[in-house]
Amino acid sequence: MSESDFITSAYGVRMPKIIYGTAWKKEQTAMLVKLALATGFRGIDTACQPKHYFEAGVGDAITGNLSAGIAREAIYLQTKFTPLNGHDPVRIPYDANADSSTQVRQSFEKSLENLKTSYLDGLVLHSPLADKTELLQVWQAMESIFEAGGCRQLGISNCYDLTLFEYLYDKAKIKPAVLQNRFYRTTGYDKALRAYCDRQHVVYQSFWTLSANGDILELPVLTNLGLDYQRSAAQIFFRYLTQQGIIPLTGTTSLMHMRESLAIFEFELTDNECAQITTCLN
Ligand SMILES: NC(=O)c1ccc[n+]([C@@H]2O[C@H](COP(=O)([O-])OP(=O)(O)OC[C@H]3O[C@@H](n4cnc5c(N)ncnc54)[C@H](OP(=O)(O)O)[C@@H]3O)[C@@H](O)[C@H]2O)c1
Repeated sequence: MSESDFITSAYGVRMPKIIYGTAWKKEQTAMLVKLALATGFRGIDTACQPKHYFEAGVGDAITGNLSAGIAREAIYLQTKFTPLNGHDPVRIPYDANADSSTQVRQSFEKSLENLKTSYLDGLVLHSPLADKTELLQVWQAMESIFEAGGCRQLGISNCYDLTLFEYLYDKAKIKPAVLQNRFYRTTGYDKALRAYCDRQHVVYQSFWTLSANGDILELPVLTNLGLDYQRSAAQIFFRYLTQQGIIPLTGTTSLMHMRESLAIFEFELTDNECAQITTCLN
């Protein structure tokens, strides 16, 4: 990836315009993350949530014994704190009976151990807590980690309620720098949330980008642009998103798709072509 394929967040953190996601890879995690890094990815998303992620496998590929040999500082490494209700009850990576601040600290320490690193580039709250007081307690515990130098920016995921996001943003001392959400028709592609993110310089990251948008990928506008540019519809859609300031996550397990995902930076859609795709998202 070249320098123009990175952005700098409100907290001064350099982030690649596409990020490799590590969910559901189990024992293949280290091998796939190593392959993704070797292919050119420089952003990795994971979570301290053994139910869906093998975080220690990510650490093996970054700095551990299976390392791809890429300097830690060259990688944007983001993990998540998962509240209790997001865990498999028999695999909770912190004391389930501790107060939420302790749970955040224990989860963070486990992430550092798993990832074999002394700091995180991003720490993301996996989903908002239903109770606002508890939400702020968890956020303040994340702020303490930020202030102690343990992570360079904070974020939140699965927050589809603009009012709640605004509430968190207003109350937070350390503002969310990242919002990571499902990107699909059911939520109207988060239009209002994304407009708010733009105003506040919050980076919007998308997941389910391909898997929940089969209808979009089959639209003539996408397939015709694919023919014009000699790219797949998935590449056209990923490229479009990056040109809108959205960072897509891809968890592909295929080397060919890894290469194709990175090759989106070899071409650029015109404003008119982007406008045609935007119309399809209305
Ligand atoms: N915050 C959250 O709650 C949350 C939830 C879900 C996911 N995530 C994050 O987002 C990451 C991505 O997950 P995702 O749900 O978006 O799905 P995904 O794991 O990226 O899977 C997408 C599907 O699209 C296929 N695919 C990938 N690239 C392609 C391409 N260029 N052309 C055609 N098909 C392609 C993949 O198949 P192949 O493997 O064959 O390429 C796979 O079947 C996860 O690993 C995780 O890090 C976060």
